[in-house]
Amino acid sequence: MASITLKDVAKVYPGGGGTRAVDNFNLEIADREFVVIVGPSGCGKSSTMRMIAGLEDITEGKAYIGDTLVNNVPPKNRNIAMVFQSYALYPHMSVYKNMAFAMKMRHVKKAEIDVRVRETAEMLGITHLLGRKPRALSGGESQRVALGRAMVRNPEVFLLDEPLSNLDAKLRTDMRAEIVKLHKKLETTFIYVTHDQTEAMTMGDRIVLMNHGRIVQVDSPKDIYDYPVNVFAAGFIGSPRMNFADCEIIERGGEYFAKLGEGGEHLISLTGVNASRPELAALTGRRVTFGIRPEHLGVTAEMDDTESRFGGGTADIVEALGAETNIYVDFPGGLRFIVREFNDKPVARGQRISVDIQPGKIHIFDTETGEAVTGRRRHGAPPATEKAAPPAVKTGDAPTDISSGNDTELADQIAAGVADAIAEADGGDDA
Ligand SMILES: Nc1ncnc2c1ncn2[C@@H]1O[C@H](COP(=O)(O)OP(=O)(O)O)[C@@H](O)[C@H]1O
Ligand SMILES: [Mg+2]
Repeated sequence: MASITLKDVAKVYPGGGGTRAVDNFNLEIADREFVVIVGPSGCGKSSTMRMIAGLEDITEGKAYIGDTLVNNVPPKNRNIAMVFQSYALYPHMSVYKNMAFAMKMRHVKKAEIDVRVRETAEMLGITHLLGRKPRALSGGESQRVALGRAMVRNPEVFLLDEPLSNLDAKLRTDMRAEIVKLHKKLETTFIYVTHDQTEAMTMGDRIVLMNHGRIVQVDSPKDIYDYPVNVFAAGFIGSPRMNFADCEIIERGGEYFAKLGEGGEHLISLTGVNASRPELAALTGRRVTFGIRPEHLGVTAEMDDTESRFGGGTADIVEALGAETNIYVDFPGGLRFIVREFNDKPVARGQRISVDIQPGKIHIFDTETGEAVTGRRRHGAPPATEKAAPPAVKTGDAPTDISSGNDTELADQIAAGVADAIAEADGGDDA
């Protein structure tokens, strides 16, 4: 059993020109917790994991496992297991030998090795694969073997770095659920790294959202969705991503409104918004970003004039996904928002539709700092250093999926390092 504490941790790679791959990283992970570190490719997730594992020196700050300062503790004495995207299996060994390897190097008795390997294989449903070589395994099977090889060592902490990225979508969904189950069964601490916001939302007790080497927000999946601390968090979590638009906050008759679109075509009441009047007052005359998730807009039958009316627009693209429909709507004033509709209302391309908005779900950001004005800012996350992303509402812009990215190459390098670390941890060269 082990908690993990990182205090003011930073990573500067030699030859990296002084760039801080990880900076000002403060996090406490409780014993048996399942924490997901999520962020775009290159934001420092793997560097953080490698420092926890001991594969990479900690440039600044302190790392503790339990109460033990581990900055200078070699990987083999940390009782941590790692699973990586590229599996890092020994190609010339059978599955059985891959799983038994670490114990064999520790001179565990053959009979005990056999029991542990078979128990673990049973748990993962890979008993029938024990005689095979890695090249004869599918991606899903390889990933299970990699998990199995980590599990037989009975580690206190599991580090999983994008372990499902090489799998197809269906298998990824299955494995996601299996890893969550495994965590419950093993009752150990799990740190899971991914660039995929869906994995983060579905797997973690807590999400640690990173960008540019820093923590942006630490929260439960629901809170990070409901109360993103800045434009980056708002845009990263949720799919399709939140709609953003430049806006102006004005006061009229004691009520606050957001004016959107060229020429202020849309006047949206902020009465129901999750911000105080002084907070809204402070924004008048400043550059402000308006945000609304596609699922908080809807297609209405009537052109009414209530508080929840957003306005009339033209359906440009209609993506019917079965349970839901994503409608890309062009509004006057050059606004283009995605509306996510769960009702079975058929909307045709080019059709004029009326859209309403859930006023309580509006997000308001200070454009200068990118920070959210709406929601609770009760979290210990450091103030956002992000510049706000430019609102992507220009007509014709397809929404960019910032959660996609490919660090296979990097993972391969890491995997090679891990194989070495395992060999080293096991006190001998590959046998
Ligand atoms: N060994 C290394 N030497 C120099 N720079 C590195 C090294 N490993 C990673 N980096 C850089 O550090 C940053 C963070 O990388 P990484 O932690 O791998 O990000 P992620 O896992 O989030 O994709 C990137 O800019 C990357 O290029
Ligand atoms: Mg990585």
